Parts: sequence; structure tokens; C-alpha cells
Amino acid sequence: MTKKLNICNIRDIPENTCKGFALEKNNTEQTIFIINKEHQFYAYKNFCPHTGAPLNWQDDVYMDLDNNHIQCSVHGALFEAKSGRCIWGPCVNQSLLSVTIEINNGKISITQPD
Ligand code: FES
Repeated sequence: MTKKLNICNIRDIPENTCKGFALEKNNTEQTIFIINKEHQFYAYKNFCPHTGAPLNWQDDVYMDLDNNHIQCSVHGALFEAKSGRCIWGPCVNQSLLSVTIEINNGKISITQPD
């Protein structure tokens, strides 16, 4: 069984920004974030492949200062927005864990297994 979770409206995430969302599953909280890169939306778990630490140190801050790449706040690794692949830092060529999203009528949702 799966369940569809409505996450937000695309207007909630302006171009070249990210937004984090806390999801609850089996009494544990998991954070995902969604990035709007050039009007394309990508979602990842908030989990750095280097150590498993959360990527951000402030709410909704997941990008480098130029808003070009996703950046881990712990050791500065840079990740491509589109693929989630690390292109600089201690986990080069490892990838963020992607989350599949659907966009219908401007609303972003994910499908989560029960
Ligand atoms: S924990 Fe993310 S780069 Fe080290």
C-alpha cells in the first residue's frame, strides 16, 4: 500500500531556492527538501552521503551562496541540483537520496509506502 502526501504548492518554492519538509513515518520524523532549479523541481532526503548528517544548519538553507548547487553545511560538499551527485567535497560521485515527486495543478506531492 502507498499513500499520497500533499507537500506544498510550487509557488511556495521560488526559483533557485529550497524548502524543507518534515514528514512523519512510523513515529519517526524524516526531513526532505525540494529545490526549484530553473523551474524544475527536485526532491531529496536531508541526508548527506558523507556521514549521514543533515545537510542544512538553518531552516530552508540547502544551497551555496550563489544558489547554484546544493551544499552540505558540515564539510561543504557541493551537489548538482538535477542529479543529486556530489561534484566537490569528501563524497565526490556519491549521491543524495532522491525522492520522487508529482506535480499536478501546481501542487507537489509524494507517494510514500505505508
Ligand atoms: S557531512 Fe556532508 S560533506 Fe561531510
